[in-house]
Amino acid sequence: MILLMRNSFVKYKLHLAAAAVVVSIACCLVSTAMAAGGGVALETPRIDTGNQKSLQRGARTFVNYCMGCHTADYQRYSRLAKDLGLSEEDVSNNLIFTTDRAGERTKVGSLMESTMSTEYGRQAFGVVPPNLALTARSRGEDWIYTYMKSFYLDPERGGIGVNNTVYPGAAMPHVLWEQQGWQTPRYKDDGNGVAVFDGFDVVTEGTMSEREYDAMITDLTAFMSYMADPIKQTRHRIGMFVMLFLFVLTIIAYFLKKEYWKDVV
Ligand code: HEC
Repeated sequence: MILLMRNSFVKYKLHLAAAAVVVSIACCLVSTAMAAGGGVALETPRIDTGNQKSLQRGARTFVNYCMGCHTADYQRYSRLAKDLGLSEEDVSNNLIFTTDRAGERTKVGSLMESTMSTEYGRQAFGVVPPNLALTARSRGEDWIYTYMKSFYLDPERGGIGVNNTVYPGAAMPHVLWEQQGWQTPRYKDDGNGVAVFDGFDVVTEGTMSEREYDAMITDLTAFMSYMADPIKQTRHRIGMFVMLFLFVLTIIAYFLKKEYWKDVV
């Protein structure tokens, strides 16, 4: 009888555990769905922060097209050179386009600062272009990737004439319009008379094909992801060693335990 009761108790506990797993999975799905920007679904790029070539291409896009307005001054150029497998001369000659306050070319040991002043930024855009060093953490990689693909022509936005489906009303112009070209959003009826976003129509072709542009944004997102967490690769490497060490230690501990208990039992 007692055994029976215990059995049913164990079964009850199992049901509880199963219910907890289902609830936590459901919570995860809901939070992922809610992470979508501006109500549109976010795309997930296939980025690899261990791929130095991809990071180098991303860095090139970043210094050429983003640092005119945005700063990333938690990161030094010299650190970038080391992590991306470049020499300091390479970085100095190909990736530094800014000057310091004295008007001299920025040195390779300096932080990745933009030359645009805060006051100018506020006057020109109404908001200061934010520091992008940690954006891959605050917004997430999917958000950045989809955001950079979602600028569209919007005649109602007087000043800049563009808008963004991921970040509606963003003060940022479409800086990569030459590469991507121009697009307008398409909407469809969701059955209840509400218009929902249904993709983009190309208005003007850019210099790049869609695949080339996606690849460029993937590299750019990878670079921003690296910048937000520069020691990720090192951490993963150390993590592997720690796991290996713990594994070996477990085997040794097991045999040690066997040895100790040999005479007791
Ligand atoms: C002409 C100036 C300018 C350039 C160049 C520029 N941006 Fe921006 N960007 C802005 C402004 C202004 C904002 C603020 C938008 C707002 O909050 O309304 C912004 C916002 C952003 C944001 C949103 C950040 C956040 O957390 O809210 C991201 C991401 C971003 N920019 C990425 C880029 C990337 C990547 C590039 C280079 C390809 C780039 N920007 C080039 C002006 C610029």
